[in-house]
Amino acid sequence: MTLTCQKHLFSLDKDTIYLNGAYMSPMLKSVEQTGIEGMLQKRSPNNVATNSFFEGSDKLRSSFSQLINGQNPNDCAIIASVSYGIATVANNINLSKKDEILMVNEQFPSNYYSWDVLAKKTGATIKVVSASENEPRGKSWNENILNSITPQTKVVTMPHVHWADGTKFDLEAIREATNNVGAYLIIDGTQSVGALPFDIQKIQPDALICAGYKWLLGPYSIGMAYFGERLQGGTPIEENWINRLDSEDFAGLVNYESQYLPGSLRYEVGEHSNFILTPMLNTSIEQLNSWTPEAIQNYCKAISQPAIDKLSENGFIIEKESYRSSHLFGIRVGDKNVEQIKLKLEAENIYVSIRGNAIRVSPNVYNTEEDINALAECLLK
Ligand SMILES: Cc1ncc(COP(=O)(O)O)c(C=O)c1O
Repeated sequence: MTLTCQKHLFSLDKDTIYLNGAYMSPMLKSVEQTGIEGMLQKRSPNNVATNSFFEGSDKLRSSFSQLINGQNPNDCAIIASVSYGIATVANNINLSKKDEILMVNEQFPSNYYSWDVLAKKTGATIKVVSASENEPRGKSWNENILNSITPQTKVVTMPHVHWADGTKFDLEAIREATNNVGAYLIIDGTQSVGALPFDIQKIQPDALICAGYKWLLGPYSIGMAYFGERLQGGTPIEENWINRLDSEDFAGLVNYESQYLPGSLRYEVGEHSNFILTPMLNTSIEQLNSWTPEAIQNYCKAISQPAIDKLSENGFIIEKESYRSSHLFGIRVGDKNVEQIKLKLEAENIYVSIRGNAIRVSPNVYNTEEDINALAECLLK
């Protein structure tokens, strides 16, 4: 499928050039409508049937499972945030003093703090892997990760693309290396799933954790997780009634049940049937499934390539395409003042983020080639 610009499906201001989906996506009009309907439903709670506590969640797990090429929607779980999903994972991994947890440099904090707590509790070590200085960044970073995986490695927890500059990691190679030493592979897919293809069956991570409000185009305070066989059936971080066996039997809820639901379902956040957020996220993921992440990635590549070529010819440093994503990439500006550049861009109604000494550009299907050319023009000025 080849996509054309989809800005008409969003309510973005006509004159705004929003290149900051990695910060927060704008809302699809269809998602907004679903949210309004969900909110109005509570005017008449008599119309909220008991099966609605389950149907919306079932739908959302199915659409997310389709997005990641999953085999069973019940391997997926609705979570509140990335920190919630990572805490669930860390709660179900036993470590000892000699074990290592490997992660990439400057990882997003929601995929750091739970590991820091676990490391302090067990005596395990956190090993942080960076790119090598003065070498091709993406290439050396990937190589360094592979070279750092040893028999001591018990967990590799990392993103598919780095949140700050879009460096892309070769998860298939990393999975092979972790399998060779029996280590868990945990992926924070927040900055990639939805806009970059992710195939659960190819990568087979032990967990995939995603916030909903960026590339899944959903609302805030809801996300999705996948848990592989090795992590299924463990201990959730909260004890909510709906995750216990036979919870659909409302009349029997106080026949307290000692067993959790099987597999991944026991890890879902309390009140996962949220009648506003759950259908909103389902609407946005259904839209992504009809566009496909592959077409979105190709669209972002097509609209950004001319500007990237021009900026690269003029001294701006942008990673080679094979080691970065096209929906999120960094433009390194050397010793120029990035904060000042950001203000100048905003004066032209162009919105990006600054991460370190790089401008983080993150387009999506609501952007055009003209949008990214306008950014490049402004930088070249
Ligand atoms: C890579 C990454 N993970 C997670 C999050 C959000 O985490 P949480 O849902 O815990 O707020 C962000 C937000 O910027 C992110 O960039």
